Amino acid sequence: MLMQQAFLIFLLYGLYFHCGSETHIAGKAPDIELNDGNKIPVVALGTGRKTEADEFRQAVLWAIEEGYRHIDTAALYENEPQVGRGIADAIAKGLVKRDDLFITTKLWNDRHAQDQVVPALRESLERLGLDYVDLYLIHCPVAQNADGSPSDIDYAETWRGMEVAKTLGLAKSIGVSNFNSSQLDRLFNNSQIKPAVNQIEVNPTMTQVPLVSHCHKLGIAVMACSPLGFLVSRENKNPPPPHNDDPILVAIADQYGKSTSQVVLRYLLERGLIIIPSSTNQKRLAQNLDLFDFKLTAEEVATIGQFNKNVRVVNATILKDFPNYPFES
Ligand SMILES: *[C@@H]1O[C@H](CO)[C@@H](O)[C@H](O)[C@H]1NC(C)=O
Ligand SMILES: *[C@@H]1O[C@H](CO)[C@@H](O)[C@H](O)[C@H]1NC(C)=O
Ligand SMILES: *[C@@H]1O[C@H](CO)[C@@H](O)[C@H](O)[C@H]1NC(C)=O
Repeated sequence: MLMQQAFLIFLLYGLYFHCGSETHIAGKAPDIELNDGNKIPVVALGTGRKTEADEFRQAVLWAIEEGYRHIDTAALYENEPQVGRGIADAIAKGLVKRDDLFITTKLWNDRHAQDQVVPALRESLERLGLDYVDLYLIHCPVAQNADGSPSDIDYAETWRGMEVAKTLGLAKSIGVSNFNSSQLDRLFNNSQIKPAVNQIEVNPTMTQVPLVSHCHKLGIAVMACSPLGFLVSRENKNPPPPHNDDPILVAIADQYGKSTSQVVLRYLLERGLIIIPSSTNQKRLAQNLDLFDFKLTAEEVATIGQFNKNVRVVNATILKDFPNYPFES
């Protein structure tokens, strides 16, 4: 009897630990493989917006509950502490372990000197309450001094600091953001470790077909920020179409029982992009992940592509006279 009990306890313990080691809770979005072998979930919660104090702490927790495994932030957004607390809340609740998550943050323009990169990343890690990030990006090829004035530090120098960050294990993968195709080419020819990612604005008014195709040719994954373009309200007083109620998008959405936003996000996924929709609304962020029970046809992808006007949501013209400004002037 005792033996049987002991055996039963042993068995239960075994099961417990076995299951314990496999509590890896897969997210709802699939992963794709980066050029360094690491895997990245194709939907990230974006946090690039000014909000009330703890809104993103709550949003991060809701997102993880909903099945998001990728969170995108940046030193610039000044919300790394909130994002970090949301992550800590989710881990404390037993929803996930750190290594179930993929956390991206970015180096701001005023820390581009090679020997500033690792210290800047350590400060981000401290604010996030993490030992490493999964992905660290140079936020922009433009360098600025602490007072915001133009600096002529070359992003190839900055990249050498990024390579050190990866070698130290502080960032599992490294990449860039807002780089144009000639800058990527130059970086490719001046690096030991190739950038894994380029994060750029992609949406129906800014489809970026040539740059996306160039990145993919180089083996660089593309993260699409501002993926909903002008479907959500922006500062622009006279936003170009498509808007949320665009008849072409509504017709496609009705066919699948989805919203026009979901159709646009799915359009970007069909193009092989990693999307970063941002929301602090629980229902909305759940919808932004509910994209994996339908597919668009090649024809529908082409139709949405015809909205392109090369008009950006993100207005960076304030940097247009700075060295290495990446966009059309
Ligand atoms: C990079 O190197 C390749 C191979 O040497 C060369 O063909 C290409 O023109 C170079 N690109 C740039 C931007 O220097
Ligand atoms: C972008 O911002 C600049 C000021 O920094 C402003 O002059 C310009 O009108 C803005 N462009 C758009 C399209 O909003
Ligand atoms: C990329 O940015 C550089 C630096 O500002 C600029 O000289 C170049 O024309 C840009 N290239 C493209 C393809 O936009």
